[in-house]
Amino acid sequence: MTMHPLDAIRRLPLAHLPTPLEPAPRLGAALGLPQLWVKRDDCTGLAMGGNKARKLEYLVADAVAQGATVLITTGGVQSNHARMTAAAACRLGMRALLFLSDDPPPEPQGNLVLDRLFGAEVRFLPDARLSEVDTAMAEAARDLAALGEIPYIIPVGGSTSRGCLGYARAVRELAEQVDGAQIQPAAMVAAVGSCGTLAGLMLGGRCFLPHCQVVGISVSPPAARARTQAARIATDAASLLGVAESFGPEDCLLFDDWLGPGYGIPTPASLAAIAAAARTEGLILDPVYTGKALAGVRGLAERGVLSPDASVVFWHTGGAPALFAFADLMREEAMRTTEDARQAQTRKCKT
Ligand SMILES: Cc1ncc(COP(=O)(O)O)c(C=O)c1O
Repeated sequence: MTMHPLDAIRRLPLAHLPTPLEPAPRLGAALGLPQLWVKRDDCTGLAMGGNKARKLEYLVADAVAQGATVLITTGGVQSNHARMTAAAACRLGMRALLFLSDDPPPEPQGNLVLDRLFGAEVRFLPDARLSEVDTAMAEAARDLAALGEIPYIIPVGGSTSRGCLGYARAVRELAEQVDGAQIQPAAMVAAVGSCGTLAGLMLGGRCFLPHCQVVGISVSPPAARARTQAARIATDAASLLGVAESFGPEDCLLFDDWLGPGYGIPTPASLAAIAAAARTEGLILDPVYTGKALAGVRGLAERGVLSPDASVVFWHTGGAPALFAFADLMREEAMRTTEDARQAQTRKCKT
C-alpha cells in the first residue's frame, strides 16, 4: 500500500478490517442488477459492527491524545453510533455519556439494551432539536470538567471532518479489493443520515476510485441539505489531510425518495428490501438505514439510474440491532413475504 496523507492522521484500530466484499448474485437478480456486490461493513466487529467503527477509529484516537476520560455523544433511541461509542469507551477504559433525543421507551430494545450493557450513562431529551442537544452536551462537558474528568464530545453520527476520514480510508480498502476481483464499479451506494459516511466516500472516491459514482440514499435529511452538508464535510476533511480537493453538491447523486414519512419510520419498500436481502442472501438489514438504502437501490435500478450492465457496490453499513426494536413489523413482513412466495409457487404450478 503506498503512503497517503491519510496515514499521517492518528487512528486507533477498533474495527475488523478489511471487511469482506461479497458478490450478491441472487439479490442482484431480484433487483435487476446482476453485478451487485455488498461491502460488508456490518462486519466491522466492534459491538456487532457497523459503519461507526471506522469513524470512531479516528475520533477516539483524537480523544485518547487529549487524555479523555469520558466520551459524550448523541443519537436517537436506536442509535447505532451511540451503541458503538459506548462500546469503544469500554475498550479504552473510558466512560460514555449518551444523550438520546427520544422518549424513554417502556421496554428497552435493540441498541438501547446494548448501551445499558456497556454501562453507558443515558439521558433522554425527548424531541430535542440538534442545537439543544449540542447545548446539553456542552453543559455536561463543563460539569464533568469541573469534577476533574476530561470529556470529549463526538457530534451526532461522528460526522466531522475527522470522523469521515474513516470512510475515505474505506474506499482505499475497497479500491484494493475491486482491483483484486478485477471489477470496475460504476457506482457505490450508501445510506445517508448525518452525512459523514457519504462525505468520506466522496473524498475517498476522488482519491482512490475516481470513476465510481457516489450515490446516497437519505434516511433523514432532505436531499438538497444532505448534498450541501456532505460536500462541506468532505472539503473540510480534505483540508485536514492537506489534500487540495474541494467538493460541491454536484459531487454525489443523492435521493430522498425512499425516506418515507421520516427518520426511523419503516416504509413498505424498506421492509420488502429487508425481506429480499434476507431470503436471497441471508443478509440482515435494518428498517432505519440499510433497508431504506436497499429500497433506493431497487428504485434506482427500476429508473435506469443504475444500469444492469454495471457493477454496483452496496455499502452494508450495519444497524441490525435496531431490527429487534421492530420485531412485530418484521414478523408481519416475514409472514407476508412467505404468503406471496407460496401464492407465486401455486400460480407457477398451475401454468
Ligand atoms: C447502520 C447505519 N447506516 C448508515 C448510517 C448513516 O451514516 P451517516 O450518519 O454517516 O450518514 C448510520 C448512522 O447512524 C447507521 O447507523
